[in-house]
Amino acid sequence: MKRVFSGVQPSGVLTIGNYLGAIRNFTKLQHEADCFFCVVDLHALTVPQDPAKLRENTLNTARLFIASGVDPSVATIFVQSHVPEHAYLSWLIECNTYFGELRRMTQFKDKSARHEVVTTGLFTYPALMAADILLYQTDEVPVGEDQRQHLELTRDVAIRMNNRFGQLFKVPEAYIPPKQAGGRIMSLQNPLEKMSKSSADPRSFIALLDPPDVIRKKIRSAVTDSGREIRYDPEEKPAISNLLVIYSLATGESIESLEERYAGAGYGKFKADLAEAVVAMLEPIQRRFAELSEPGVIEEILASGAERAEKIARETVARVQAAMGLAPRPQRVKAQS
Ligand code: TYM
Repeated sequence: MKRVFSGVQPSGVLTIGNYLGAIRNFTKLQHEADCFFCVVDLHALTVPQDPAKLRENTLNTARLFIASGVDPSVATIFVQSHVPEHAYLSWLIECNTYFGELRRMTQFKDKSARHEVVTTGLFTYPALMAADILLYQTDEVPVGEDQRQHLELTRDVAIRMNNRFGQLFKVPEAYIPPKQAGGRIMSLQNPLEKMSKSSADPRSFIALLDPPDVIRKKIRSAVTDSGREIRYDPEEKPAISNLLVIYSLATGESIESLEERYAGAGYGKFKADLAEAVVAMLEPIQRRFAELSEPGVIEEILASGAERAEKIARETVARVQAAMGLAPRPQRVKAQS
């Protein structure tokens, strides 16, 4: 059976960008592959976090996986820091990754330009991400378009280490939806930037837990393009094109059919209907999320997820340790006095 791995940072409440770009595909893949879905809390630490908030966001991210339709009896859901092999393999990978490769990562360039203090963790972030994926001998990685470069680096490092040390890792493939299918959902306030949960302006994203009235207000205040025409044209009309993609994914109606239906209707009517479509898409997720908040429920799922994950992670680490020449830890032969 094919193996699938993906991770989501617990750095805030997930957005419809995370859902449409990645998590919806988790729910599809879980029926055809052995899936591992990880809340990557160590990645979140690359930028400042409030400790109490991080703990809460970590559990809520796992709850949102399940509320979105990931079935914990089929897929393995776990927290990255609960399996220390992630950080350990990351070091071994860092020692096989070039400074120049990490320096070229566009996400590092963007994030380091936005933060006053740039940690080395932010710089080596892609090595930890490679470790996440390679630990599980992953075939496929469902992610949004923004992760493509990190996936390519993961493949390069896996091939390099396999060539140098013998077969250690499967070389994974990215599973990225095209833009019209949610691969890159854009900000509601600036359609040239991707929608991001860490944005300072909450009007730029719709969080999966936003109440219906907040969703309506955010969509009403979403920027639009000049003119009145509702047409998919990402070059000329990036804002309306983004809203059309969201509408189409929320309802299953094709973009062409929406263009026809709203020909001459104006932005006001289109936005009002879009808001209702998004409210309806999120309603079952929000309902299930509330049920999962009972104490102990998510903890049990994460405990068994970490047990499953660590078995596979330990096998991979043992293989890499031996291949790279780390001496095995000796067992005591003499009894301790
Ligand atoms: P993160 O937490 O930023 O986002 C989680 C997933 O959501 C996708 N995504 C989007 N897709 C479409 N449109 C958007 N506006 C949008 N915003 C986010 C992301 O592409 C991602 O799939 N580095 C990763 C987390 C990670 C990971 C991994 C992923 C760590 N280790 C191993 C896969 C495999 C990240 O920051 O995702």
